Amino acid sequence: MGKPEKRFLEALRGQTVTPPPFWFMRQAGRYLPEYRELRTQAASFLDFCYTPDLAVEATLQPLRRFAPDAAILFSDILVIPDALGQSVTFREGVGPVLEPIREARDLDAFDPARVTDHLAPVFETVRRLSREIPSETALIGFAGAPWTVATYMIEGRGGTEFANALAWDAADRAGFRRLTDLLVEATSAYLIEQIRCGAEAIQLFDTWAGILDADRFRRLSVEPTRAIVRRIKEAFPEVPVLGFPRGAGALYPDYVRQTGVDGVSLDSGVDTAWAASELRGLCTVQGNLDPQVLVAGGEEMRTQARRILADLANGPFVFNLGHGIVPETPPEHVEELAKLIGDCRND
Ligand code: CP3
Repeated sequence: MGKPEKRFLEALRGQTVTPPPFWFMRQAGRYLPEYRELRTQAASFLDFCYTPDLAVEATLQPLRRFAPDAAILFSDILVIPDALGQSVTFREGVGPVLEPIREARDLDAFDPARVTDHLAPVFETVRRLSREIPSETALIGFAGAPWTVATYMIEGRGGTEFANALAWDAADRAGFRRLTDLLVEATSAYLIEQIRCGAEAIQLFDTWAGILDADRFRRLSVEPTRAIVRRIKEAFPEVPVLGFPRGAGALYPDYVRQTGVDGVSLDSGVDTAWAASELRGLCTVQGNLDPQVLVAGGEEMRTQARRILADLANGPFVFNLGHGIVPETPPEHVEELAKLIGDCRND
């Protein structure tokens, strides 16, 4: 007899698991005092990500507090532009700052072949984690989806109007396609190596998918994601892939059908009753408590969490937030939420 399957992986294989498995996006990070303390040991955020001792410890910290069903590798989506040779820094209070690229000629300096060498410390972190996490906990590897990573590479920072990225695609579709293809190649190689080193599932973060109209969504979010999923499945057919096309709204079902993901992460804007009827027959769903509700805590948090469980926990489901935990979050609220999920029975 083999070992029993981990609960998170069972859910991603389409089983209804009770109580449902859970983990939280950004479960490691600044809302934890022990993370803030650890973070002082590296000069820069990228140095922190590239120091296996520190990245392993940051991954393990939330496991000790909340015992989630999955650990997510501690790294960042912007290690890919850094590995390609673009200048990437993280500024306190500002976020990521990149030396922006604006046209196809800027891509000549980038070499996807150097990505896996440059990211060797991340692979070492994955190897160590696969030995050190509890036996019932699954290890998630991740990357940004090409569209979201491209927005940071082009705009030079996050959360802007994306005017430069959209203008580039409109003016030179073939050139923009070159950037997307480069990211598909680099990201696939990166994720496949994470799996070789011990990652048991993959999540692709497409944080800025929601700003695309339907046509661009298919071309710039769905197509490259489908290409990455295909490459992962060619190498490791049994490793589940979760997609997070944040803000995709009514396009969520198309995204699932066309990319071939095994699970889809819902942002907080998705109505869970709608998701139960439109998505659950297609794949496992994950989500979607509003991170701001987790900041507030109390009765509102309990009510919203119970509604999500009532709508979705009677099918293949993973409880999560609709986006990452924010730094203002009291860790006690996360602890209470973990207990509430653990008490869920399907009756
Ligand atoms: O616990 C985990 O979720 C694992 C680690 C993780 C981080 N970033 C650590 C991090 C993961 C999965 C990410 C993904 C990520 N990074 C995304 C996609 C998910 C999302 O939140 O939409 C994006 C868009 C990024 C890019 C990024 N990294 C931004 C915009 C910022 C600055 C904003 C901020 O929160 O500071 C980062 C920095 C970052 N990545 C921090 C952490 C813990 C904070 C920096 C620090 O601790 O010094």
